[in-house]
Amino acid sequence: MARVAIGSDHAGFALKEELAQQLEAYGYEVNDIGTHSEDRVDYPDFGVAVATEIADGRADFGVCVCGSGLGIAMAANKIAGVRAAPIHDATTARLAREHNDANVACFGARLISDETASEALRIFLDTDFQGGRHMPRVQKLNAL
Ligand code: RB5
Repeated sequence: MARVAIGSDHAGFALKEELAQQLEAYGYEVNDIGTHSEDRVDYPDFGVAVATEIADGRADFGVCVCGSGLGIAMAANKIAGVRAAPIHDATTARLAREHNDANVACFGARLISDETASEALRIFLDTDFQGGRHMPRVQKLNAL
């Protein structure tokens, strides 16, 4: 089963806890890098921590949660080899995997319901990259 690193800031803490439980129930090997409370923290620290787990080969996928899903994605995308996508629903979850080979799913806890995020995460992790015409584009992303 895939190894998943998960992290959030304070705004994403509650949804991060939910998603981590869901992943464990599905049998994923989950590494929760925090935050561990609703005390205010800075989302770049947690986006980079999740992304580093992937870049260093300790995780296959990452899940990041902040208030909007935007700032923490920006932070994760600073790390080479990481393709972090803000996910809003089942469609963006599927396309992020099929077309972009995204390896980090980012959620905005203030913008998405727990149910929609749970379903989107399940789809994200169950969907394969399509390769083909998408491959050279992802290679260009990787070379940036
Ligand atoms: C925190 O208030 C909020 O700015 C943060 O969670 C996130 O939405 C930033 O992109």
